[in-house]
Amino acid sequence: MSVDYSYIAAEAKSQIEAASDKAAIEGLRIKYLGRKGVLQDHMAKIPELAPEERRAYGSGLNDLKNNISAWLAEKEAALGVAAPPSAAGYVDVTLPGKKPVLGRLHPLTQVEGQICDIFCRLGFKVFKGPEVETEHNNFVALNIPLEHPSRDAFDTFYIKKCQVSGVRCQEKAHDIGNMTQETLLLRSHTSPAQIRAMKAAEPPMAVIMPGRVYRPDAVDASHSFMFHQVEGIAVDAQIRFSDLKGVLIAFAREMFGKDTKLRFRPSFFPFTEPSAEVDISCFLCKAKGCPACKKSGWIEILGCGMMHPHVLRSGGYDTKKWRGFAFGMGVERIAMLKFGVNDIRLFFENDMRFLEQF
Ligand code: PHE
Repeated sequence: MSVDYSYIAAEAKSQIEAASDKAAIEGLRIKYLGRKGVLQDHMAKIPELAPEERRAYGSGLNDLKNNISAWLAEKEAALGVAAPPSAAGYVDVTLPGKKPVLGRLHPLTQVEGQICDIFCRLGFKVFKGPEVETEHNNFVALNIPLEHPSRDAFDTFYIKKCQVSGVRCQEKAHDIGNMTQETLLLRSHTSPAQIRAMKAAEPPMAVIMPGRVYRPDAVDASHSFMFHQVEGIAVDAQIRFSDLKGVLIAFAREMFGKDTKLRFRPSFFPFTEPSAEVDISCFLCKAKGCPACKKSGWIEILGCGMMHPHVLRSGGYDTKKWRGFAFGMGVERIAMLKFGVNDIRLFFENDMRFLEQF
């Protein structure tokens, strides 16, 4: 008995070459190499052969099996790397769509916006001062004396004039020893915007001044060399400390909840007199005592006071006619409390896993 392998081989080869997809390849694999396939049929005949024929017959079938396997693998690989139909303009409309990544406001921008929004509803207007300020506006105009620690080179980022060619101060000359008003720095608080706001508007006026401030602090969980403040001033003929209290109480109730209580502690700032630091009753533990309020029930959120006459004069306001109140608060601190964030650095790392949560 003999068998014509070349006939099977030729047929298998042409069918494999004609296969146009993986399903067809799989069909041919089953047809030729499957348990009930063509080759298996021939294998089943081996016991019927004379012993001397078996070896040649078997090894011929084996070669055929190897060849068919190789052709199948070759064709499969060729189909796999070939361009899929979609490249030819085919669109699978049943595939799920790609979800566009939606942007959103940074948590600090959200909180800054919320703060400004509340004060705007109380009649304040938003005013923005520059981040590069004159030493005059940042310190002198605000009654901060030369010996004040915040004026030290270690506590403020000074900018040498030569490094900021083109940036020139528009103010009138102020003679302060060997320094001129053109000494520039990165503002260490938003208070210098008070001076610019007064120069830009006639009293009575009420403005809120948000923005970035800079201090060369070592960065850790609660310090950053750049952070945000919101400053506010209101100037009028008869304005009093009680007006300041009323405005801050209204703000705190909107921002932290209607049961929020305020505590005014006497304090000192060169640019306000009298001055106070303001604590809110802890809205996280309802003043019972928790880690956020260090078990005291109170959280410090801002500094404030009646504007010092020196500051009103620096802004060009007549101190016989006008008085004002001022306050300043840190945006990061409020955002950390509101969102339960325990490390200020998270706001500035641009890690999507963090930012996506707000
Ligand atoms: N400028 C002060 C600070 O940075 C805050 C402040 C503003 C205090 C206005 C009183 C009035 O700490």
